[in-house]
This record gives sequence, structure tokens and C-alpha cells, in this order.
Amino acid sequence: MKEKLNLRWLAIFPCIFLSASSLLMPLNGVGAEASSQPLKTQWSQKMRSLEATLNKVLVDTSSDSRFNDRKKFKSIERNASQLAKLAHSLFEKPGQSPDQDMSQALIGKDFATEADYAASTLKAGHREYARVILNSIAGFCIACHTRTAIGPQFASSKVAPEVEALPPLAKGNYFVATRNFDRALAEYQKITQDSDQAIADPFAYERALRAGLSVAVRVKKNPDLGLRLVESVIVNSKSPYYMKAQALEWKKSLLEWKAEKTFDSKDPGKIFEEANRLVMKARAIQKFPADPSADLVYLRASGLLHEFLSSAPTGLIASNAYYLAGISYDVLKDYGTRDFSEFYYRSCISTSPYTEISKDCYRRYEESVYLGYTGSGGTYIPPEIRARLNRYEKLSGSDPSTLIDTQKM
Ligand code: HEC
Repeated sequence: MKEKLNLRWLAIFPCIFLSASSLLMPLNGVGAEASSQPLKTQWSQKMRSLEATLNKVLVDTSSDSRFNDRKKFKSIERNASQLAKLAHSLFEKPGQSPDQDMSQALIGKDFATEADYAASTLKAGHREYARVILNSIAGFCIACHTRTAIGPQFASSKVAPEVEALPPLAKGNYFVATRNFDRALAEYQKITQDSDQAIADPFAYERALRAGLSVAVRVKKNPDLGLRLVESVIVNSKSPYYMKAQALEWKKSLLEWKAEKTFDSKDPGKIFEEANRLVMKARAIQKFPADPSADLVYLRASGLLHEFLSSAPTGLIASNAYYLAGISYDVLKDYGTRDFSEFYYRSCISTSPYTEISKDCYRRYEESVYLGYTGSGGTYIPPEIRARLNRYEKLSGSDPSTLIDTQKM
């Protein structure tokens, strides 16, 4: 499992950085109004409606008595359909999101499909199953919002008492979904300190740690916040042994990061170089492909790659960034949504078809699909997924029958 990183393209096309930098938007959310005020406002409004709808949905799904109250069935169904409608509206036209990363639209499509599924499952009367799906919807908000420090952050404002009463992990997740990152971190921190949680629900305990680290590293870019979380796990006498071992590795990465000179360049070329350095470093740390020891380094790398990609770079350099993001998410499986790394490999191929990097991306995309559809009974790839693989294989130039096209490029 050792691929070359495609830096040769950098040497050939150094000018790509110049064109990317001219497209770069301010990186602080507050300042992006200059060129795209109307679109940005529309996006904000849709996001605000999503927030309001998610609020209602979570309030209803969090309580058995509310969820099973026949008088509420219709309004719960209405809210689920509204969530799906809003999800569909996000990417109905190109260029709607202030974040220009191509993979955003793929995440958005999955989000809409999942929300549709929740609404139709509910309508079909499979209410308990629909409830599980509805509860997982916040995962999409979180996957998008914790990629970078770009975008608004909200400080504590009043939340519904039903939200305050949510179980601790769901509450932390709710605050990330609604971009109240400080409250979210406080909730996650509380969970990692709690010995009862560590014993009662080690799964939620680990999720809280990982979600907290994602916010600390990518949204807050603050190693001290990460250190507070890992320290709580290390000193918690009830945290599972394997998690303590992981936390010790991650503490090392955080201390190293803290000792480094702060990287705050806004220059796209430098951001890409730094991300690339970190991916290389992470790969050197890992002893086997799923080894989590380097997760914190991959988190930092992916944050920078998202920052770089949000400004819509084009061509080979963008494809290299998508490739590196794909590699990172092949390891960071808990930090995106299902198929996250595949979204990046696909974006890599469609950004620079018929190139060396697109072939590398196709190879990894194909491997991921095969792994995903392989179980104890063998490999079964559904026809529509197979057709998509074939399309990307052609586009990447990996299929020998498309060599003629390759020569035309
Ligand atoms: C496909 C990615 C994506 C998904 C899915 C997503 N968001 Fe967002 N969200 C964004 C981006 C990008 C921004 C804006 C960042 C910026 O302003 O630069 C944003 C901003 C927001 C804002 C701030 C709006 C403002 O400007 O005042 C809220 C609130 C929000 N999202 C809530 C939600 C909720 C709740 C969900 C899930 C039900 C969700 N979002 C799902 C990408 C996403």
C-alpha cells in the first residue's frame, strides 16, 4: 500500500497556484460577502431552515412519548418531508454553496437521499426504523461543518428544554450541527471525564472523544483544546484500555503540533504543501492501513485540504488535493459520512480526467467500492454502482478502450 504522491505535477504546473489564489475567498466566513452576497444569503437561509427543522425533528425523536403520540404523527411526517425538501434544495443549481469543494454536492446528494429515506420509511409506518434514520441525519450537518474553521460560529443562545434534556452525545452533536462549537466541546469534554459513561456506553464515549477532537483540530485549530480531551481519557480510570493507548498516541501528535511554529498562511500553494507534508507524515506513522495512531495528523491534513478546496482551485492541483483528502478519509472513517473518501476520489477524476492522478484516484476508488461490497458471501456490486465505476474508469483513462480519447487530451 505505498503510492507515490503526485507531486510531479506541482513541478510542471507551478502557475496553478497563482490562478487558485486569485479565486480564494476570505477564510473567515465573515468576509465573503463581496462577490456573492445573494447566493450566500440564500445558502444561509436554507441552513437556518434546516436548523429549525432539525430542532423540531430531534425534539420529537428524543422522547418516546412524543414520538409515539398519535396526535403528533402528521406533524412528525411533515417535518421529515420538510427536511428532505430542504436537503434537495441545497445543490439544485451549481455554485450554491459558499464552499466550492466539488465533493460537497456529492455529500449533499447523499444527505437528500437519506432524508428521503427517513420520510418514506416514516410514511410506510416503519416508525422505529425511521426514528433511527432521523437521528442519524445530524451526522451530515456535522460532517460538513467540522471540516474547517471557515463559516460562522454561534455562541450559546437559549435552546429548547427538550434539547437540554437530550442524552449527552446527542446534545454535543446537536450543538455541532447548529455550529455552536463551544457548547459542543463542553458537552464532549464532560463525557470524556465521566467514568459512568465510559463503562455504560463505551461506543458513545469514543464517539464523543473523536467528535471533540475534530472540532478542536479543524474548526478551532487549537492543540490545547485537543489535549484537554485526550487528557481526560488518559486520567479517567474507567476508560477502556485500548482508548487510553490511542489517546496517548494522539497526545504525542498534539504536543508535537503545539511545539511547531503556528501555520496560518492563507496562500493556497503553502496550504497545499503543508497538507501534503502532513499526509506524508501520517503515512509514515501508521504501521498498518487502519492504524489509528496517525489520526490526529490526518485530521490536520484534511482540515487544510478542505480549506484549500473550498476556494475552487482547478485542474491537477485540485485533483491532487482531492486525492490526498481521499487517502485521509480512508483512514478517518469516523469523521465523515459513509463513502466520504469515494466522494473525493470521484471529484479528483472528474476534475482532471485522463491524467495520471485520475488513474491513481480511480484505483483507490475501485478498491474502496470492492471492499465496501465484499462480505462473508463474496463480492456483490449492485448494477448501478458497477455502471458508475465503469463511467469513472473511462473518465480516468484507466480503461484501455478509451486510449484514443487520452491522446486527444
Ligand atoms: C453539504 C454540506 C452541509 C450540510 C449537509 C449542512 N451544512 Fe450547514 N453549512 C454548510 C456551509 C458550507 C455553511 C456556511 C459556511 C460559510 O458561511 O462559509 C453552513 C452554515 C450553516 C449555518 C449558519 C448559517 C448562517 O450563515 O447563519 C447553520 C445554522 C447550519 N449550516 C445548519 C445546518 C444544519 C442544522 C444541517 C443539517 C440538518 C446542515 N447545516 C447541513 C454546509 C453544510
